Amino acid sequence: MGLKKVGILTGGGDCSGLNAVIRAVTRSAIIEHGARVVGIEGGFEGLVFNHTQDLTIKSTRDILTLGGTILGTTNKGNPFEWREQSHDGSISVYDYSDRAVQTVKELELDCLFVVGGEGTLEIGYKFQKKGVQVIGIPKTIDNDLDKTDYTFGYQTAVQVACDALDRLATTGRSHQRVMILEVMGRTAGWIALEAGIAGGAHIILIPEIPYNIESVVQKIRLRAKGGSPYSIIMVAEGAKAIGGDVVTQETATTRLQGVPQLGGIGFHLANQIKEQIDLEVRCTVLGHIQRGGTPTAFDRVLGTRLGSYAVQAAADGKFGTMVALQTPDIILVPLHELAGVVRHVPVDSQLIKCAESIGINMGREAA
Ligand code: F6P
Repeated sequence: MGLKKVGILTGGGDCSGLNAVIRAVTRSAIIEHGARVVGIEGGFEGLVFNHTQDLTIKSTRDILTLGGTILGTTNKGNPFEWREQSHDGSISVYDYSDRAVQTVKELELDCLFVVGGEGTLEIGYKFQKKGVQVIGIPKTIDNDLDKTDYTFGYQTAVQVACDALDRLATTGRSHQRVMILEVMGRTAGWIALEAGIAGGAHIILIPEIPYNIESVVQKIRLRAKGGSPYSIIMVAEGAKAIGGDVVTQETATTRLQGVPQLGGIGFHLANQIKEQIDLEVRCTVLGHIQRGGTPTAFDRVLGTRLGSYAVQAAADGKFGTMVALQTPDIILVPLHELAGVVRHVPVDSQLIKCAESIGINMGREAA
C-alpha cells in the first residue's frame, strides 16, 4: 500500500529515546515512501482537539540526542474516559473518542503511530477497533511491557540509576551510613534490580518480593560486624513490606484520575531501619531524573529501529500491531495480545538467582 500521510503521537510519561523514534518515523516515511508526516501534540489530547504540527526532515533534525518528546505528552487524557473536574470538586467522565476519530479522518491519515506504554497502547488498540489504522511502538522506562525484550527508555533509566548508586556509595563508605536509593518502575522491579546489580547494591527490594524487614536489618548488621559499617540499598517505588501496603502520594492528578502515584517507600524503609539499627540512614528519591536527558546509544538504536520498522509495517498494511524487539529482530505482535498484561520480574528468574548467588539480599525471609 502506498503511504501518503501518517500521524504520530507520544502518550504516557516521557522517556529518553522518544525523539529518536519521532525522527526515524519521519525520515523513513519521507525518504522511503515520500509520505507526509503529522505530529499530534500532547498525546491523545491533540487528537481530541486537533492540535498538530507538520514533521519534516528539517524539523526533526538534531533531536536524536534530545530527551523528552518534541510533540509533548500526557498521562491523563484518555479520550474514551475523559475526566473533568468541576469547581465543586466533582468529576465527570466523557467519551471523546469519536472526536478523536474525526480528527484522524480530517487529517486523512493512512496510519497512526502510537508511541507509549501499556495504557497508551491499550487506548491505541481501542482506536484500531474503531477503524483507525494503528501501529504501536513500545516505550517506558519501567520495561514492563510484554512481548518485547526491552522498551526504549529503560536502559537510559538503568544507567542513570546506576550512576546515582555509584555516587551514593561514595558517601555511604566515607560516612559509614546506610544509603537508600528509591527508583521508579511502577509495579515492576526491573530498574531497581538491574541498576542495583550494576551499582553493587547490598540489598535490592522490588515489588515482586515483599520484603522482610528483619532480613534487611540482619544483612546490614552482618555487614557492620564484618567490618563494613555501611550498606547500599536499592528500593523500587512499588516495593512493600510483607503484610504492608505500597506507599503513595496524593496529587491533583491522582485525585482527577483516581490512580495512585507511587513514591515514599524509601523514607518509610529508612524509618523502619532506624528503629533497629544505630547507624545513620539516608534516603534519596531519584524521581524524574531517570526519565530525562540524553538517551544511551542502545536506546537511540532501539528507538530508530522500532520507528523505521513501524513505517515499513504500515506500508505493508500490518495495522493493529506493535513493533517489538525479540532479539536480534524487530517483529510485529498483535495489539490485542498485549491488553492488560504487565510484565513483572519473575521471582524465580535467573536474574534474581544471580543477585542472590553473589550475596545480594532481596528482602526474602531468612531461611
Ligand atoms: O511509567 C513511567 C513512570 O515514570 C513510572 O515509573 C512512575 O511510577 C510514573 O511514570 C510517574 O508518573 P508521573 O510522571 O505522572 O508522576
